[in-house]
Amino acid sequence: MKITVVNHPLIQHKLALLREADVSTNKFRLLTEELARLLAYEATRDLPLEPVEIDGWCGKVTVQKVKGKKLTVVPILRAGIGMLNGVLDLVPSAKISVVGLARNEETLQPEPYFEKLVGSLDDRLALIIDPMLATGGSLVATIDMLKRKGCTQIKAIVMVAAPEGVKLVNTAHPDVEIVAASLDSHLNEHGYIIPGLGDAGDKIFGTK
Ligand code: URA
Repeated sequence: MKITVVNHPLIQHKLALLREADVSTNKFRLLTEELARLLAYEATRDLPLEPVEIDGWCGKVTVQKVKGKKLTVVPILRAGIGMLNGVLDLVPSAKISVVGLARNEETLQPEPYFEKLVGSLDDRLALIIDPMLATGGSLVATIDMLKRKGCTQIKAIVMVAAPEGVKLVNTAHPDVEIVAASLDSHLNEHGYIIPGLGDAGDKIFGTK
């Protein structure tokens, strides 16, 4: 199984707070943003740099800047929106591509209902964000969409992953790195990750 689990103490501490049964909507939302920020830091660790000459305070100086087109962040509706501001804190000029996929609770298969992707995807890194990688169906469908539009550099940032979802994504798209705060035990019969976080979308939006 190929997944990058980030064992930074702050990430693990924030994840522990998210797992508490009585966590409030406000706290869950804040922690989700903070975790997204820290995970995005890890996911962007290998962005290519290029030397650029600028006018510094004492004359010309050559500095290192991120090379290439601005990356695109791809929140999967609805829960992915909860991670968006955290990622944008680090890459404020990123373009946003939104994908809407609803999980059918019986078949557990994703049903697309919205797709608004930025242009020139062949030249950009796409960072897909979704708090929970459960069956992997939504993530595979989103990667399929991005690749159909020519995107060749894709990473997925999730807070919690289930082995079932990781395996599906690894099999369908072995080139896509998954960055997560935790690889949990398994999915239950309702498609929830165990121990997981419960319904992350409901917890972020306060709907329950
Ligand atoms: N989506 C969630 O919000 N939680 C899960 O455990 C699985 C999918």
